[in-house]
Amino acid sequence: MAEPARGQPAAAEQPPFPRTGRRVLVSGASRGLGRAVAQVFADNGDQVAVHYGSRREEAGATLAALSGGGHVLLQADLSDPAQAAELVAAAEAALGGVDVLVNNAAVNTPHPPADTGFADWVDGWQRHVEVNLLGTAHLSHQAARRMVARGSGGRIVNIGSRGAFRGEPDHPAYAATKAAVHALGQSLAVALAPHRIAVSSVAPGFIDTDRVAHRLVGAEGEAIRAQSPYGRVAEPEEIAAAVLWLASPEAEWSSGTVLDLNGASYLRT
Ligand SMILES: NC(=O)c1ccc[n+]([C@@H]2O[C@H](COP(=O)([O-])OP(=O)(O)OC[C@H]3O[C@@H](n4cnc5c(N)ncnc54)[C@H](OP(=O)(O)O)[C@@H]3O)[C@@H](O)[C@H]2O)c1
Repeated sequence: MAEPARGQPAAAEQPPFPRTGRRVLVSGASRGLGRAVAQVFADNGDQVAVHYGSRREEAGATLAALSGGGHVLLQADLSDPAQAAELVAAAEAALGGVDVLVNNAAVNTPHPPADTGFADWVDGWQRHVEVNLLGTAHLSHQAARRMVARGSGGRIVNIGSRGAFRGEPDHPAYAATKAAVHALGQSLAVALAPHRIAVSSVAPGFIDTDRVAHRLVGAEGEAIRAQSPYGRVAEPEEIAAAVLWLASPEAEWSSGTVLDLNGASYLRT
């Protein structure tokens, strides 16, 4: 007896997610990894909404350095849910839609438990949760709802962290919120797959960005580089390349993944 047809007509008949010419919102692109992510998408022929929180001048420099045209600069304080929603609306208005959202913006300030008073501890946790977790959740919600309404699929890539798995003794709220970001991405991956929206996260180890440059000198720098058998930390472009791939048509099948990008410095089992 003949095998029943095993086609997947609904998905197969839809056009593939585009490889280039996408509308991309990158949060926290004033410098560091966000700037490298904005550049790699622009170099790919995508249009980028460069978001920043407070560093307008640096964000302007990111925008000015992008190849291609049609990119825009947008400001929002992502600790405020209303501003997060307005950011996605503004990106849609400026670019004509958002096909790819990269949740890169985050805070990471020290609050070692043994040395931090309770008021500072509470402030630190609130700030990390508001920006790293809730900012990511609200941008994702607003972008996903628009992608669903358009019916053209989409990609959401979260910047998580190795710290979610390895622990961050001086930054526990940072590690906890990055673990939550990974979990959020996995829930959204399942929820949004029927709408052809793939959601994934990357979990980088140390990256040589402005924010951590002061830690990469002297004995501490040596120790940090020694975490990897390569004896170095990542360049932002190495992380950005993975983010670009996770936004590709082929990455649909990687939806839900948390991709380790740490130079074999921490191997999860
Ligand atoms: N560097 C590393 O070693 C490393 C390792 C693993 C993961 N990561 C992750 O990679 C991402 C980028 O890190 P980075 O080192 O490039 O950090 P960064 O230079 O401090 O960049 C953080 C970005 O987030 C934005 N931001 C922070 N708070 C915000 C708020 N309340 N509202 C709006 N925007 C806000 C900043 O905007 P303004 O500057 O304009 O205020 C900035 O553009 C983060 O998610 C970080 O957790 C970094």
